[in-house]
Amino acid sequence: MESPSWRCSLDLQGCASFFIILLVTLFFLIRVLYLARPKLWCNCEICQTYLSLGWSKSYVNLCDWYAHLLRSSPTKTVHIHILGNTITGNPDNVEYMLKTRFENFPKGKPFSTILGDFLGQGIFNVDGDSWKFQKKMANLELDRFAIRSYAFEIVKCEIENRLVALLSSVAGQEGGVLDLQDVFKRFSFDCICRFSFGLDPRCLELSLPMSEFALSFDLASKLSAERAMEASPLVWKIKRAFNIGSEKRLKEAINMINILALEVIKQKRKIGFSNHRDLLSRFMRTVSDETYLRDIIVSFLLAGRDTVASALTSFFWLIAKNPQVLSKIHAELDRVMGDQELVSYDQIRELPYLQAAIYESMRLYPPIQFDSKFCEDNDILPDGTFVKRGTRVTYHPYAMGRIEDIWGPDCLEYKPERWLKNGIFFAENPYKYPVFQAGLRVCLGKEMALLELKSVAVSLLRRFQIELVTPDQVIRFSPGLTATIRGGLPVVVRGT
Ligand code: HEM
Repeated sequence: MESPSWRCSLDLQGCASFFIILLVTLFFLIRVLYLARPKLWCNCEICQTYLSLGWSKSYVNLCDWYAHLLRSSPTKTVHIHILGNTITGNPDNVEYMLKTRFENFPKGKPFSTILGDFLGQGIFNVDGDSWKFQKKMANLELDRFAIRSYAFEIVKCEIENRLVALLSSVAGQEGGVLDLQDVFKRFSFDCICRFSFGLDPRCLELSLPMSEFALSFDLASKLSAERAMEASPLVWKIKRAFNIGSEKRLKEAINMINILALEVIKQKRKIGFSNHRDLLSRFMRTVSDETYLRDIIVSFLLAGRDTVASALTSFFWLIAKNPQVLSKIHAELDRVMGDQELVSYDQIRELPYLQAAIYESMRLYPPIQFDSKFCEDNDILPDGTFVKRGTRVTYHPYAMGRIEDIWGPDCLEYKPERWLKNGIFFAENPYKYPVFQAGLRVCLGKEMALLELKSVAVSLLRRFQIELVTPDQVIRFSPGLTATIRGGLPVVVRGT
């Protein structure tokens, strides 16, 4: 039995520890509030409109309000004080950030912390030497003709065996409504998993339950994106420290992804990867660290999945609303393909009007609507805007597509012709159209993405008539890393 003097000393120790913890916590809270103080309030009109949600009276989406702000600004740049965010739609500034002063505008720690648990040290989430190494390695692989034709085979097989089969199964059926956005998400996840891992999650087979990998991946991207929307990073960091709420679910989803990814790596080692064509097997010939391999591949999945689904969804939405564009695509396909049913790799490259229609739809609806960097050292942008060290600087492709000074008075119209001269496709200055980013960190999957988008367009437009269930639907986006339409894109499908 404990003596009373022992109990008393234990009680005193307990009280002292409690007060020390309380003092330390109070000290940190006061410090955090002090540091956050200048950002909590600002009286300027823009910050007031942001804080009071006044923008939502005139605009459906926050990105539409930003587009309005950038259009109205003489420099095409604004600073949102309470967010510490300089937002620009000025192509000269974009070139400066992404090329001229690239080293001064890294992704930065805030971004990599938010996505760090999910993406680890993968290419999407790192700067400096680790990024250079992965980019060099990825470029070496992705530049090969062999991997492009491998990607084309996967996409073709997924379209013919699953996508067309799925649409045919509902075509002409009464009440046969499909959410095209959901279908494209499943399609692009199957494609990117097969390409990156050599693993087939079979998400497009609606009769099968969504694979655990796909569900965990979805949840992890959603919850990681939601971290960025918390009023302060402290909120999610505290939840993570106590393993509660959304952070608990995020941890579980990431654990599931890790188990599955490491299992695939183990299996590949067992059966040998030297003659496998997927990206993971190619990387395994150079890298042996399992966690690093997992990180590289997860970054590729994230980069290549929702972006493609988003691009396809807005393309089909615009095509359904612009029958004159659809007729011109049909005319081009008839000329190039004749009666032939399947498009070949070489023919895909000979479709300038289709390419223009796809570029044009991403001009108005870029899958990544904005992208932020963090300024390392005080700097001055070409338009004269001073940027203080540590400021977040965002370039905004969604707003840029709606700026008359960049695209002319018809910038809000869907007009593939603006990309064509005498029937030949001409790519615009990439800093005017940073949909795939531009400069040193330009998207590594651009060619593969275009191949995928064109292949789907050719196969579906030639076989089906796709009608919007709600043609007057106003596009509202859900918050997230990639543009996603809230409520999906319900369509009715008929055979041609
Ligand atoms: C329409 C489809 C796509 C669009 C619009 C797109 C756009 C982008 C953008 C804007 C970035 C820069 C993101 C950032 O640094 O924060 C990026 C990076 C990247 N993308 Fe894509 N992407 C698409 C498809 C793909 C596909 C299919 C792949 C994979 C095969 C891919 C692989 C990558 C990779 C690896 C990076 C990181 C590059 C780096 O940091 O150096 N992307 N993409």
